[in-house]
Amino acid sequence: MRVLVIGSGGREHALAWALSKSPSVSELYVMPGNPGTLSLGENIGIDPMNFGAVLEFCQRIRMDLVVVGPENPLANGIADYLRAKGISVFGPGEMAAKLEASKAFAKQFMSRHGIPHPRFEVFQDPIKAKEYVNKTPGPWVIKADGLALGKGVLVTGDRSEALRVLSNMMSGKILQGAGRRVVIEECLSGYEVTAMALVDGERFHMLPVAKDHKRLLDGDEGPMTGGMGAISPVPPLSPEDVRSIEKDVFEKVLRGLQEEDLDYRGVLYAGLMITREGPKVLEFNVRFGDPEAQCVLPRLEGDLAAVFLEVARGRMNDVPLTVRPEASTTVVMASRGYPGEYEKGFVISGIEDALALENVLVFQAGTMPLGGASPVSSLGAESKSPLKGASGKAGEKHPGSPVPVKTWGGRVLSVTALGADLEESRRRAYEACSLIRFDGAYYRKDIGKIGL
Ligand code: GLY
Repeated sequence: MRVLVIGSGGREHALAWALSKSPSVSELYVMPGNPGTLSLGENIGIDPMNFGAVLEFCQRIRMDLVVVGPENPLANGIADYLRAKGISVFGPGEMAAKLEASKAFAKQFMSRHGIPHPRFEVFQDPIKAKEYVNKTPGPWVIKADGLALGKGVLVTGDRSEALRVLSNMMSGKILQGAGRRVVIEECLSGYEVTAMALVDGERFHMLPVAKDHKRLLDGDEGPMTGGMGAISPVPPLSPEDVRSIEKDVFEKVLRGLQEEDLDYRGVLYAGLMITREGPKVLEFNVRFGDPEAQCVLPRLEGDLAAVFLEVARGRMNDVPLTVRPEASTTVVMASRGYPGEYEKGFVISGIEDALALENVLVFQAGTMPLGGASPVSSLGAESKSPLKGASGKAGEKHPGSPVPVKTWGGRVLSVTALGADLEESRRRAYEACSLIRFDGAYYRKDIGKIGL
C-alpha cells in the first residue's frame, strides 16, 4: 500500500515510523516531513495547505491512503477535498473538525449529547466576558474559540490577569484573532488524561490512555505549551474509569456524530479531567496528540496502516492491534525560550548515542539538516513516476537521524523509552536525553512524576 503522512512534527515522525513497520506498506511519503522522516520514506516538498497540489501528487502516485497529522488541513477541509476525488483519508471532514477548530462548537456539541463537561459560557462581546469575570469567583479557565497551537488556554485565579488576557484575546492583539470569541469554563479538580480512539463513523476503538504534561516547568508550573512530555499507561486510572470514558464519552460522541451527520473517520482525542464524579471532557482534538502520539504509538503492535485504511473507508472491523505491556515515557527536548521566543541553528549531537540504548526512540520536530537544505525529495515538484520510499520496504525501522541536524523550532525532539514499568521507562528516557546535546536544550525533569 502507498501511504502519505501529512505534517512535519514529532507526531508525524512517530506516525511515519509506526506506519513504516506495517507489513502492508510498500511506499511511504511524508509531506513535507522533517529530517527524521527521511530515514523512513520520501519527504515531499509540497505545502499541505495547497490542496490542489496534494491531490495532484496523490493521483500521480496512486496513493492508497492519506493520514493527516495536524489539525489545520483538517479544519480547512482536506479530508472532504481528497475524498471527493476517491482518495482514502484518515482524518475527519471539515464540519466534524469543528470539534477542535471551535471550542464553542465543541462545548455546545457536548451539551447537546449529554457528554460530561465543565460548566461554560461563550462570549463574543468583551464587555460581557469581563462582567462575567468580575462577578464570579475564580479561578477561570479562558479558552480562545479558534485554533491557537496549544497557546489559547489560560487558567488563572488572578482577576486582573484574566481581564488583561480577555482584552488581548478578544481584540485580536494575540493569537491572530483565534480568541475574538472565547469560552470561559469552570475550573475542575482532579487529574488530566488524554484518551484517544479510532473512530470510523460506526464504531470506535480506544487506544491506550496517556497523560500529557502541558506546562513548561517542573511541578506543572509556568506557561502552557503544546506538551512537554507524556506517559502511558496512567497509573491512577482504574478499569472502571476506562469503562466510563468509553460509555460516557466515546459512545455518546459517536451517537452525536451520527445524529448530526458529521463525517468522522480518524482519531478523536478527548482531553479529560478525571473528577470525583467521573471523567469530564475539557477539549476534543481531531488528530493524535503531540507528544501523546510519540508515547502511545510505540506501545501498539500490528498492521497500523491496514487499520487506518479500514477507518478511512468507514469499515473498521476487528482491530488487529495489540498493546505492548511495557510502559512508555516521552520527554520533549525544547529550545530555551519556548513557548516564547528562542534562538535556533544550534548543532544537535548525541541522537545516535541515545538510539543505541535499548528501547529508545527519538522523534524529530524542530530540526533542520546542518547544511540548511530543505529535506525534501524532488518528487513533489517534478512529474516522475512513483518511486519506492527512500529506505525501501518497511522492516523494524529505527527513527534515526539520517542527516546531521541543528535546532529549528521550539519543540525540537521527543525522546521516548519503553520499560517494564513507568519507572524503568522514565529512567531510560532521561538517560537518553542526557546523551543528546544542543545549546539551550531544555526539558522537564519530572515527566511521569506529577499528579500520580
Ligand atoms: N498535547 C496536546 C495536544 O496535542 O493538543
